[in-house]
Amino acid sequence: MDLGITGKTAFITGAAGGIGRELARLFAEEGMRVVAADLDQARTGETATLVQQSGGDALSLRIDVTDEASVQSAVSAATERFGAVDVVVNAAGIYRIGQLADVPPDAWDQLMDINLRGTYLVCRAVLPAMLERGRGSIVNLASISGRTKSTLASPSYVASKSGVIGLTMALASQSAARGVRVNAVAPGPVDTDMIRGLPSELQPGLISTIPLGRLGTPREVANAIAFLASDVAAFITGETLNINGGAFMV
Ligand SMILES: NC(=O)c1ccc[n+]([C@@H]2O[C@H](COP(=O)([O-])OP(=O)(O)OC[C@H]3O[C@@H](n4cnc5c(N)ncnc54)[C@H](O)[C@@H]3O)[C@@H](O)[C@H]2O)c1
Repeated sequence: MDLGITGKTAFITGAAGGIGRELARLFAEEGMRVVAADLDQARTGETATLVQQSGGDALSLRIDVTDEASVQSAVSAATERFGAVDVVVNAAGIYRIGQLADVPPDAWDQLMDINLRGTYLVCRAVLPAMLERGRGSIVNLASISGRTKSTLASPSYVASKSGVIGLTMALASQSAARGVRVNAVAPGPVDTDMIRGLPSELQPGLISTIPLGRLGTPREVANAIAFLASDVAAFITGETLNINGGAFMV
């Protein structure tokens, strides 16, 4: 299927991470120009190099999504280099497990700043130009934890991802009339550093919750993001798409 995204520019936060990096590679395979942005400058550079080695065009930028000035400057650098940003994917995030008692206020603030405020700041920085041009597509990384019960994820993570889903619906409602779509994906456990970093004794329990019997792959999440970002999904906005091997169904 032709996604119709060839020649467009994608801005990806969290591009040094498992999902963001795979998405950068997929977008480049589809002929997109890629802005790879992440707090981890060295690993973001590696993502850009991977894209370039496969013949793609990539710009690597350091971004701290919690910092408004850093976000503005990354979006300006992307626009300066490629003219305009057509697709934005908010994949920067951190994960925590634990009970409420394990979440002191400073840890709550840090997680909400990255996962929710960061998504808000990036959307706020890119939306005006998209609305002005009358086109654009944003895909936010939510999570299965933001949609249903979760005994493992910290209440802060759950709240941040529910917040991302709410923010997605609000921005989709307010942007649709001007040609901009905003969607989210809600992955279940995916095989990246985020999950590999969990204590090994928790891994079998995680997989036992997944009817398909395995973790998702970064490519499987990237495929769903590319679909939502593309014109193939032109009539879809405000949606949160589950990618979870059947772990949560509605
Ligand atoms: N892996 C999973 O099982 C899973 C499941 C559901 C949702 N998600 C979500 O998908 C997204 C990507 O996750 P991943 O699995 O690729 O994780 P990852 O840990 O591999 O990548 C996350 C990236 O975010 C970056 N980041 C953290 N703080 C930042 C900041 N302040 N500014 C800019 N970048 C920052 C990190 O440097 C890292 O490269 C996250 O939002 C995560 O919550 C992941």
